[in-house]
Amino acid sequence: MNLFVIHGPNLNLLGTRLPDLYGAMTLPEINRRIRAYAAGRRARVRILQANCEGRIIDAIHRQRRWADWIILNPAAFTHYSYAIRDAIEACGVPAVEVHLTDIRKREPFRRKSVIAPVCRRQFMGFGWRSYIRAAQYCLDQK
Ligand code: DQA
Repeated sequence: MNLFVIHGPNLNLLGTRLPDLYGAMTLPEINRRIRAYAAGRRARVRILQANCEGRIIDAIHRQRRWADWIILNPAAFTHYSYAIRDAIEACGVPAVEVHLTDIRKREPFRRKSVIAPVCRRQFMGFGWRSYIRAAQYCLDQK
């Protein structure tokens, strides 16, 4: 099973970005845990962090033949990127949306995800463990 993990804008700053909200763990450390979990399940992982919408869309296009699942934290793009939404829909790869925080309990502008309708599931509010729950879900599917 091949998992393509995408971290959206500003997630490269994890560790120092609002640690009370997002946790103290850095993105390289989160990625290490994702890789360790996947390795234990004999899955392969590719990971991208990008601050630009176009880079995320190009990567979805590029990885669509390799990936069995996309695990995506679109970060702020969650709330308004119809282009990423369309890329997920167009690529034909099942996707799972991830958030560190529970966006339903935050500011009104964060409560809506335009990505959710094209994803199989959302995992949010578990900090870095949201990614592990998402990976677990993907790897538990046939
Ligand atoms: C986030 C939630 C988004 O609203 C925010 O813009 C982020 C991170 C999360 O993981 O909780 O950058 O996606």
